[in-house]
Formats: sequence, C-alpha cells, structure tokens
Amino acid sequence: MAHFAIHPIHRFHGQSQPMRRPKEFTCFSYDDSHALHLDDRSLRWYYPPQFPQGADLSRGFDTFVKHDDDGVDEHLDSLLAAVAAHEQKTQTKIDAQVLTWRGMMTKIMATPYDDRDGFEMNATFYQGCIFIEENHEYKVRTRREQDARQNRPPPRQHPDRPWFPPDVMSYWGYKFETLATLPRPWGEVTRDEIEGRDAETVSNKAQYCSVIRTGIGSTILCLGGEVDAVWDAKPRTQGAPVRWVELKTSADIQSERDLEVFERKLLKFWIQSFLLGVPTIVVGFRSRQGKLVRLEEISTEGIPVTIKTRSQQAQKPPPWDGDTCINFASTFLGWLRETMSDSDGVWRIRRRPGSPEIELFQVEEAGHGNILPDTFLNWR
Ligand code: A3P
Ligand code: MG
Ligand code: MG
Repeated sequence: MAHFAIHPIHRFHGQSQPMRRPKEFTCFSYDDSHALHLDDRSLRWYYPPQFPQGADLSRGFDTFVKHDDDGVDEHLDSLLAAVAAHEQKTQTKIDAQVLTWRGMMTKIMATPYDDRDGFEMNATFYQGCIFIEENHEYKVRTRREQDARQNRPPPRQHPDRPWFPPDVMSYWGYKFETLATLPRPWGEVTRDEIEGRDAETVSNKAQYCSVIRTGIGSTILCLGGEVDAVWDAKPRTQGAPVRWVELKTSADIQSERDLEVFERKLLKFWIQSFLLGVPTIVVGFRSRQGKLVRLEEISTEGIPVTIKTRSQQAQKPPPWDGDTCINFASTFLGWLRETMSDSDGVWRIRRRPGSPEIELFQVEEAGHGNILPDTFLNWR
C-alpha cells in the first residue's frame, strides 16, 4: 500500500503549476432514452427562464423521468467509445497520460479542502495512460447511506426553512436546467417552445458530454464531462474556446452564514467548470421553498480571486485557495504515475472521509478488470 499525504496542505501553497487551456477534441450525447450517440445531438442553448422570479422548481416532480445511474456500472465506456472513434478517424492515438471523468478529477482537486467526503476509484495502466473510473459499489453504497441519513425530516423544523426530501431538492437542479435552456439556438425555436418550458417534462436522461485535452503541471489529461449549455454557438474551429454555460441552483443568500456556505460551494462549482474550460456559471438562486428568486452570472475565472478578496476584506482566512488545489492535483498525478509505474493490473485509489492521506493499492495483479471494454482493447 502506498500513501499520499494530504496534510499539511501548506506544502501546496504558492503560485500555481502551469495549466493548459482545455480544448474539446470530440464529444458525445445520450439521448432521451440514455442511448449513446457519438455526436452533439443533445447540446442545449442557454436562454434565461421566463419567470426568473417565482418559478416553482418543484413543479412537475411527480412526472420526473429519472436516469438510474446506480443500476448499471457504466465504467468509462461512453468516453472510451468517443475517444476510440476519434482515434480511428484521425489515425492518431491521443497523448493523454491520465484519462477519466471530470467528476473524478473534481474530487481529487477538492481534496485539500474536503474532509467530509471520501472517494474510491479504480485505475489501470495501458499503453502510456492511466485510466481512472469511479468504484461503482462504493458510489452506490455511500449514496444509500446518505439517503438514509437525509430521507427523514429533522425533529424540529424552522417555519421559514421547510424540509424537502433529497430527491425533490435534486429535482430542482434538473428543473432549472429545463427552464434555462433550449434544444436549438434562440433564432430556431418558436415562442411556444420558449414559453412552454415550465410545462415540459423534466428528464435527466439526455446529456451532452465534452471530451477535452488539458494539462495540470506535467501531466496531460483527457477528461469527459457533461456540459449543460452553450451561450450562443459552438465555434466551427475545433479546439477554439467555447462559451459554455454551467447551470447551478443554490439557496438564496440572506445572512453572513449563508454567504459562507455558498463560498464553500463555489469550490466545487469552480473546479468542475475550470476543468472543462467552462467560462460562465449561471446560478439560479432559490428560496427555501424551492422558488427561483434571481439569476446571477458568475465568471469561472474570477471565483478564486473573489474568494481571496472577500476574505481579506472580512479579515478572515480564505475558505479555500484555487492555486493550492491545482498544485495538489499536479503533485498527486505525478505521484500516481510514478507509483503505478507502467505496471499491469487494477489499482484502487481511496480516500476515507476525513483521512489525512490518499491510499493506493493493487486489487488485481494482471489485466484491466472491467475498466477497459474489449472494444477499446481490440481497437488499441
Ligand atoms: P444543481 O447543481 O443545481 O443542484 P450539475 O450541476 O453537475 O450539472 O448537475 C445537475 C443537477 O444534478 C444538480 O443541480 C442536482 O440537481 C443534480 N445532482 C448532481 N449531483 C448530485 C448528487 N450528488 N446528489 C443529488 N443530486 C445531484
Ligand atoms: Mg450538468
Ligand atoms: Mg449544472
């Protein structure tokens, strides 16, 4: 078993390691039945909701069409299908040294400031690249435990802060996506489509996923992740910056304490968007009753600076530091590559909640477990 020390985190303070600008080189979509297509059919366009004040985010919860991602372990299959198709088309293999879902990199990057959540991932080395997937059993188990904790109302409820079950609160996020996007650019939709969004059935089966090349420190990464919408149009030139939009909902800020909670949430918002090169986050602030109250457009790039400035003004230590996250991720990836050192088999990357270290150990001595599908191995 190898150990990577998280603490003390001051080892990662200071100017950040070099980062590459993320560039999309391919994409894929899941359609309304969650079937995979190696194209951009599920791309959506941002268009502000009709009634930013007053829309009820719970509306339609009873008809929510929900994708059950606890059921089947999807591994890295769709991401690898898109990568393989790109490689076949260009007759060139991608040069990434680490390939994973954006969500896994988000967990790693947030580690220095996240002591509550642990993670478990599986990794395997193949042809110059480490492939990292989420450990499905771990994900399902921790989600069940979390639901069990949150699924019953607290004994005493504040009248201004009613309790909602976690699946209703999770619905609010998807409802906001439905209210704030269009299936085609603004010029190509009817007024009815714009005005009818509040009555539309909400589903989270369809997704557009961007596949990008980026770099953190000396590691070249290929990441796949969902993007919620594009601001105007995707540029024709491959790799040109895209004005992506990440949509988020969050409780309206009414007190100093609410602001602190929001600033901590901004850590994940920032990392998630930063990794894929999403320049704008549109936050739909909602009341405690789940009504949309206002929108705020936030520049991803500006978030770490805002955090720093606000805490200086308030003469408090900053809740988190973006450069530290980048340096942490860069050092961790270097260590991971060195420790796994081109060896065969399947490895587990694990952080127990609150643990001061990330553990790495081999779970299978040969092969690639179920991380790499045969279709990918046969192609390579
Ligand atoms: P919010 O982020 O507005 O809460 P994403 O923001 O990554 O695009 O995810 C879209 C929505 O999926 C979220 O909207 C939330 O509703 C839901 N979601 C994402 N991760 C979740 C989790 N771990 N538990 C419950 N819901 C989640
Ligand atoms: Mg999303
Ligand atoms: Mg979102």
